[in-house]
Amino acid sequence: MSAQPELFTWEFATDPYPAYAWLRENSPVHRTTLPSGVEAWLVTRYADAKQALADQRLSKNPAHHDEPAHARGKTGIPGERKAELMTHLLNIDPPDHTRLRRLVSKAFTPRRVAEFAPRVQELTDRLIDGFEAKGEADLIHEFAFPLPIYAICDMLGVPRQDQDDFRDWAGMMIRHGGGPRGGVARSVKKMRGYLAELIHRKREEPGDDLISELIRTSDHGEHLTENEAAAMAFILLFAGFETTVNLIGNGVYALLRNPEQRERLQVSLAAGETELLATGVEELLRYDGPVELATWRYATESLVIGGQRIAAGDPVLVVLAAADRDPERFAAPDTLDLSRRDNQHLGYGHGIHYCLGAPLARLEGQTALATLLRRMPDLRLAGDPADLRWRGGLIMRGLRTLPVEFTARQT
Ligand code: HEM
Repeated sequence: MSAQPELFTWEFATDPYPAYAWLRENSPVHRTTLPSGVEAWLVTRYADAKQALADQRLSKNPAHHDEPAHARGKTGIPGERKAELMTHLLNIDPPDHTRLRRLVSKAFTPRRVAEFAPRVQELTDRLIDGFEAKGEADLIHEFAFPLPIYAICDMLGVPRQDQDDFRDWAGMMIRHGGGPRGGVARSVKKMRGYLAELIHRKREEPGDDLISELIRTSDHGEHLTENEAAAMAFILLFAGFETTVNLIGNGVYALLRNPEQRERLQVSLAAGETELLATGVEELLRYDGPVELATWRYATESLVIGGQRIAAGDPVLVVLAAADRDPERFAAPDTLDLSRRDNQHLGYGHGIHYCLGAPLARLEGQTALATLLRRMPDLRLAGDPADLRWRGGLIMRGLRTLPVEFTARQT
C-alpha cells in the first residue's frame, strides 16, 4: 500500500483526484481532521456516497453535531450564521424540509426556467461583448462570475439598477468565503436588508418574478412567511451562484486541456446539434464538478457506512468529486468523454436535497459554453497552467482566475 497522501494541502487543492483514488481504495470511509480542527468522516466510494446522501439517519441540522457550537455555518454559504438565514433547505430535515421544498418547487419550476432561456442568452452575449475586442480576458471575473449573479437577480425580480450592488456583495463573499470577516458580515447584512425590503415591496406590488411567485404560492393553505421567503431567496442566490461560476470555470478549463473533446463539441455545435452539448455539460460536472464535497451531515444515531461504524453526533462529508471518479461505477473515470451516456453522476447530489436549481444550472452552463466556443473558436489558455490557483475552502472547487486569449473581434 502506498503512503497515505496528505489532504488539504496546496497540491491537493490543485489536483485532489490522486488522493481521492487512494482513499477510495484504502480507506473509503475515512476519519480526518479538517483544517478547521473539526473531525469528520469522508465518504469517497460511489455506492457509499449515494447511500449516505439518501440516508435519513444523517441529518442536515447542525444541532445534531456533538459540538454544535463548531457546527454552525458549515454549509459553505457565507453569512448563514445569522439565525434568520440558517433555516434554509440545506440545514433542515423533514417534515420542515418537505414543506418548504414543496412550496419553493411550485414557484421555481422547470417551465419558469425554460421561459428564461432567451434572457440567459442575452446576458451571455452582453458579457462577451464587453471583452471580445480585447483579445484576452479573465474568464472568471469578466464572464463566469457576473453571469449567474445577474441571471438569478433577474429571475428573483431584483431591479436592474440594483444588480451591481448584488454583484459587489457577492464578490465580497466569494473572495473571503464563509469566515466571520467584517466585509463579509457587512455584505450579508446589506443583502439581507435589501431582500427583506424587496419582499415587502413585492407583497404590495407583485410582478411576474420568482419572489412574487414565492409569496403567492401556497400549499394546502400554507404560505411562506416573510422570513422564510427571505431565507429562500438567499439560498437560491448562494446555492446558485458560486456553483455556476465554477461550472463555467472548471468546464472551460477542462475543455482547454482536452483539445480533441473541445474540437468535437465545436464541430457538433457548428452543425446545429445540441446533444453533445447536453451530455458534455453533465460530463464536465462529473469530471471536475463545482461541488467537491456535499454539505455537512450529522449522524443522529450510530450507523454503518461502507463497513465503517459512525458514532451518533459525528459529522459526515460525502466527497462527490471522489464518488464521481469511482472506477466501480464509471468506465475510464479519469477520461473526459463528452458523449458519455451512462453518467448518473452525483454532481447535483442525490435524495431529498438533490439540487433544486439543476435546470437553471444546465441552462446557464450550456448557454455559456456554447456561446463562448461559437464566438471565440480559437479560445486558449493565456500563460502557464502551473500558475493557476484554486480557491481554498472545503465544499466548492473552482479557479481564482482563468486568463484566456483569442483573436480579437474587429470593431
Ligand atoms: C452547476 C451548478 C450547480 C451545482 C453543481 C449544484 C450542486 C448542488 C448540490 C450537490 C446540492 C446538494 C447538496 C447536499 O446534498 O449536500 C445542491 C442543492 C441545492 N441547490 Fe444546487 N447546484 C448548482 C446550481 C444551483 C442553482 C443555479 C440553484 C438555484 C438558483 C441551486 C439551488 C440549490 C438549492 C436550493 C439546493 C438545496 C436543495 C435542498 O436542500 O432541498 N443550485 N446543489
